[in-house]
Amino acid sequence: MKCIQINSQFSSTSKVLIGESILNLSRYLPSSCRIILLIDENVDRLYSNMLSSYQRVTVPLFEKNKTLAAVENLAKQLLDLGADRSTYIVGVGGGITCDIANFVASIFMRGIRCGLVSTTLLSQLDASIGGKNGVNLSGYKNILGVFNQPEFVICDIDMLLTLPEREYRAGLSELIKAALITDSSLFYNIIQDKKRILSKDIDILTHLIYRGVEIKADIVRHDERESGERRKLNLGHTFAHAIEVSGELNHGEAVSVGLVIAANISHNLGLLTKEEVVEIENLLQSFELPVKTAISREILLDTIRKDKKKQNDSISFVLMNGIGNCEVRKLTFEELSLLL
Ligand SMILES: NC(=O)c1ccc[n+]([C@@H]2O[C@H](COP(=O)([O-])OP(=O)(O)OC[C@H]3O[C@@H](n4cnc5c(N)ncnc54)[C@H](O)[C@@H]3O)[C@@H](O)[C@H]2O)c1
Ligand SMILES: [Zn+2]
Repeated sequence: MKCIQINSQFSSTSKVLIGESILNLSRYLPSSCRIILLIDENVDRLYSNMLSSYQRVTVPLFEKNKTLAAVENLAKQLLDLGADRSTYIVGVGGGITCDIANFVASIFMRGIRCGLVSTTLLSQLDASIGGKNGVNLSGYKNILGVFNQPEFVICDIDMLLTLPEREYRAGLSELIKAALITDSSLFYNIIQDKKRILSKDIDILTHLIYRGVEIKADIVRHDERESGERRKLNLGHTFAHAIEVSGELNHGEAVSVGLVIAANISHNLGLLTKEEVVEIENLLQSFELPVKTAISREILLDTIRKDKKKQNDSISFVLMNGIGNCEVRKLTFEELSLLL
């Protein structure tokens, strides 16, 4: 087991435990608190025998349920169970559950303690790390949310073995994103280790999740509240969020398409060679991730206008400046439309 620590200026220090088992959850929980698990309903079905000693509330699934209504519903259930300011919440599930559980804990009675057990590849690499949480509003992604570091994040790699294939592959796009932001050798290692990654080799997964978390933790330590460098983690996400709204692709798949769009825009600005664009596309496709969308550019641009990162008529867009390097530039919607 490996531990990466993220010291927070605003909330508790967050410990990310890579390769820890859900069976050891109690080691990280205070004995003095009442514990309630907010758990993904599929994970609950698969792992209830390991968690039978805990009080559990299931979280409604699907991206379209990542709403304030779901938060309200969970908060009501917590009240019905008699939860109070001393209750400790543990979110158990993928990115959707971790986002909702951390958000509920951040606002329930003005904030109660929280830890996470992260159960998808996407959430172990990215979603459960760094303290950003939130829910969607009128179909627009993560409009309501806060920054709040979970006290711990258990990344139980064995749990990835029950993940549906589609969800497993979706997680790989966040890994490729991390490599494209800051680490070209990781990008080429992923190409080399493709077979072992697809066969879910535990050693390679432990190594890759560690690298992914390390990249994210490094950035978050420098810019916890996303006023500068943390924006780089949104590489591919401006278009991904617009694509995800249609409901046809899940988050990781939409990120895959978003990365290809960002690569092409970077190429059009002279920052990335055509060969590099092809390398990125090929790698994503080799994991059977989508690289195109049928959604029209008008609809995409219209949705992006409502992106929470927009400032008047422009948006902070993350561009790739070669593989393993990126920069944030303000682009007007007119420029974006011409570059698309
Ligand atoms: N807060 C952040 O910084 C951040 C970063 C990236 C993504 N996100 C969010 O994460 C969400 C996507 O997360 P996700 O891809 O993990 O999706 P998800 O939470 O919907 O999980 C995917 C599916 O896998 C199932 N599942 C989860 N763990 C399982 C396991 N171990 N075995 C079998 N089935 C399992 C779930 O029931 C679900 O059907 C999006 O809403 C996205 O916005 C947040
Ligand atoms: Zn993402």
